[in-house]
Amino acid sequence: MSGWPPVGTAPGVVGRVKPGRGGSDGYYPAMVENEGRVALVTGGNRGIGAACAAALAAAGERVAVGSRGGTAPEGMLGVRLDVTNAESVDKAFSEVEAEFGPVEIVVSNAGIVRDTLLATMSEDAFQEVVDTNLLGAYRVAKRAARPMMRLRRGRLIFVSSVVASVGGPGQSNYAASKAGLIGFARSLARELAPRNITANVVAPGPIRTDMTDALTDTQRQALTAAVPGGRMGEPADVAALVAFLASPAAAYINGALIPVDGGLSMGH
Ligand SMILES: NC(=O)c1ccc[n+]([C@@H]2O[C@H](COP(=O)([O-])OP(=O)(O)OC[C@H]3O[C@@H](n4cnc5c(N)ncnc54)[C@H](OP(=O)(O)O)[C@@H]3O)[C@@H](O)[C@H]2O)c1
Repeated sequence: MSGWPPVGTAPGVVGRVKPGRGGSDGYYPAMVENEGRVALVTGGNRGIGAACAAALAAAGERVAVGSRGGTAPEGMLGVRLDVTNAESVDKAFSEVEAEFGPVEIVVSNAGIVRDTLLATMSEDAFQEVVDTNLLGAYRVAKRAARPMMRLRRGRLIFVSSVVASVGGPGQSNYAASKAGLIGFARSLARELAPRNITANVVAPGPIRTDMTDALTDTQRQALTAAVPGGRMGEPADVAALVAFLASPAAAYINGALIPVDGGLSMGH
């Protein structure tokens, strides 16, 4: 346990109030015991998602990770989850709920790329990326929202990309899906804030994962050249921000788009 949440903290706080303490308005003035909130990270079996899962576990949360294979880093609950299929999303949430209880933190991180220039981009390639990255986030948020509304607290964190703001040649499908997440999350932020649920977006720059390992050296060099520090980031750089957004300290951050890109997107 990390010591979260600090005693006497405000709405959005987690943990269990000892009988006879705390108010029904969501304020827990004292004696909050953190037994770990339940977090689900989509695409949490590797890359940025795995780092987010590890950071949340280190903060004392009970973490489940979802992916198509259902594998999980050691010590975490792995569930099979395909964000392109609403039934699979529902089943994955039900499994996590049965094991841990209602999900309070969702990191909507699963994503794919199918890069190619517009001239050669098929409708299928466009649709596949939007179906996973944007509609997938919708399916996950939709399944997550009702139990969070019942709980009257929750954190929705969407993993977008710097490409949403600055674009990328050959990435029109990916950029469209990741930019769509911003409007989607901001709408949820407005809809769900009265229930003490926040929705925020993180926008990583180039991060060292399987996704960027698939690039050519020339593509990687072009990407890093645009970063003021001239280097790629690590999954842990993104995870630190995600863990903060999930923490009680971030209760008043809502509808934000926060870059973690070494300065690549400055001014956008
Ligand atoms: N790496 C970067 O430079 C970078 C930069 C900006 C944003 N991002 C975003 O960060 C997120 C994570 O990227 P990453 O770099 O860690 O990529 P990655 O290593 O390729 O991992 C992608 C993850 O998404 C999961 N996934 C893909 N399709 C899925 C589906 N239909 N249902 C469930 N899970 C699915 C994969 O799991 P399975 O394949 O095992 O199912 C995997 O866990 C993505 O949304 C990506 O767009 C990455």
